[in-house]
Amino acid sequence: MQTLQEEVSIEMRKRRTFAIISHPDAGKTTLTEKLLLFGGAIREAGSVKGRKANRHATSDWMEIEKQRGISVTSTVLQFTYRDCHINILDTPGHEDFSEDTYRTLTAADSVVMLIDAAKGVEPQTIKLFEVCRMRGIPIFTFMNKLDRQGKEPLDLLEELENILGIRSCPMNWPIGMGSDFKGVFNRQEQCLERYVGRNEKPEKIAVSDVEDAHLTELLGEQAHEKLQEDILLLDIAGDPFDFDRVRAGQLTPVFFGSAIANFGVETFLNQFIDLAPLPGPRQTDQGQMDPVTTPFSGFVFKIQANMNPAHRDRVAFIRICTGKFERGMNVHHVRTGKKTSLSQPQQFFAQDRAIVETAYPGDIIGIFDPGTFQIGDTLCEKGNFQFEKLPLFSPEHFARVTVKDTMKHKQFHKGLEQLAQEGAVQVFRIANRTEDIVLGAVGQLQFEVFEHRLQAEYGAKVELYRLPYQFARWIAESDLASLYYDRSSCLTVKDLHDRYVMLFPDEYSLRFVTDKNPEVVFHPTSYGL
Ligand code: G4P
Repeated sequence: MQTLQEEVSIEMRKRRTFAIISHPDAGKTTLTEKLLLFGGAIREAGSVKGRKANRHATSDWMEIEKQRGISVTSTVLQFTYRDCHINILDTPGHEDFSEDTYRTLTAADSVVMLIDAAKGVEPQTIKLFEVCRMRGIPIFTFMNKLDRQGKEPLDLLEELENILGIRSCPMNWPIGMGSDFKGVFNRQEQCLERYVGRNEKPEKIAVSDVEDAHLTELLGEQAHEKLQEDILLLDIAGDPFDFDRVRAGQLTPVFFGSAIANFGVETFLNQFIDLAPLPGPRQTDQGQMDPVTTPFSGFVFKIQANMNPAHRDRVAFIRICTGKFERGMNVHHVRTGKKTSLSQPQQFFAQDRAIVETAYPGDIIGIFDPGTFQIGDTLCEKGNFQFEKLPLFSPEHFARVTVKDTMKHKQFHKGLEQLAQEGAVQVFRIANRTEDIVLGAVGQLQFEVFEHRLQAEYGAKVELYRLPYQFARWIAESDLASLYYDRSSCLTVKDLHDRYVMLFPDEYSLRFVTDKNPEVVFHPTSYGL
């Protein structure tokens, strides 16, 4: 008979829980679709036409849903491949980029960084990468769109190093690009994966090594010579593959391919499954919790409210960190000290949303939330520990908010508090002027959602006045008295936990103040404060 721990251990080893980070248009939707296809989660792929038209209003996944007629949530997609349970966490980009996008990364065990080979490292990728780095999440890189003319592969690696500060280890190497694209050389298996056309299965040709004369026949003299030079350079000057450095987030394995042509995606998926970390132990206020030996526990990383007034329910998304989850189990809600029953848990398959009976470390479940959960809450079957608190991330948009009808003052404050706890927006108070409330958001859409929900759910109409700040930095109170800064351009506020935060209008003023106060630490998140 299998013990519970054996069962959890076996199931946990099958889980791969990751997020794809990229700048809009790098090809995330296309890659996701191809991955789903390999998992058999959807039957047919192809370019998702007409997606651009509605892009401003909806997330890509909702678009997939519309296009394909399948039910996908905007939070997690699950499918099975090679006996592995793959959980892909959505990280919304475009207009619906929000703090949720950052918070979702706290639920991932690894990240796939997708880069458009013609554009290189772009701004949104940098922001998301920083969050991964802060948490030391292992990062796998997919250089996309090799079927088009792009930057030189060596220049792309240099960008990873110079812009992101991460060393790389190419697992395969492209031969030509654009109309000259001939395929990739698989360094691990020492074989050529020949590109034979869009959506055609690559031809895999084993060779003795990169100098094999057969490659000259296959690629032509010039291309083979170039390939040999490149591989020699990588062998001498590049970083060797080192699993420990990958796991520590110091080295990123790089794969080249084309999502739309479905080239390199299958090899990538196979190698990713072999190399990607399993759900590991997670830090709590009582030390690390082992995923197998600790009874069920997890934390809330996202709360999704239904915008439809007819169904004003909320779903709290829980990342399972330890033990076995069973439907209907009674768990301890650590922050409130109360017992709560997890009776209607949902899990999200690519095609369906289903009631889940059991789940294991690495899985994400959605629980109906009557309004008791907050972002970062821990739920556990036994014990009384708390997973690391989720940090607040520097907003990029700020606005002063006032209630239009002063009679609704009470409702306004109640809504403000609840929406802040839910993580819909950040709420700051101007130091010494407690009535002045400043909202902070990572993405524009958060303000619109806030305004809509305050009116719809709390009956309070509000007015927002945009403020000219773009950066927030958390600082220790002890540093404040001696801080040198220009009071006319920066603003000092307090967050809901009474931590001091400085708001800066632009990069120039941020750099000016940090340079003038070299002894002060300006934290881009509330992490560690
Ligand atoms: P996103 O979710 O990251 O925003 O990107 P998405 O997949 O929507 O892809 C953005 C554009 O890039 C799409 O073109 C898509 O077809 C294209 N694309 C994705 N992967 C590749 C690739 O490997 N090679 C090439 N050449 N293009 C790729 P679009 O013009 O916006 O849409 P469509 O008309 O092609 O559907």
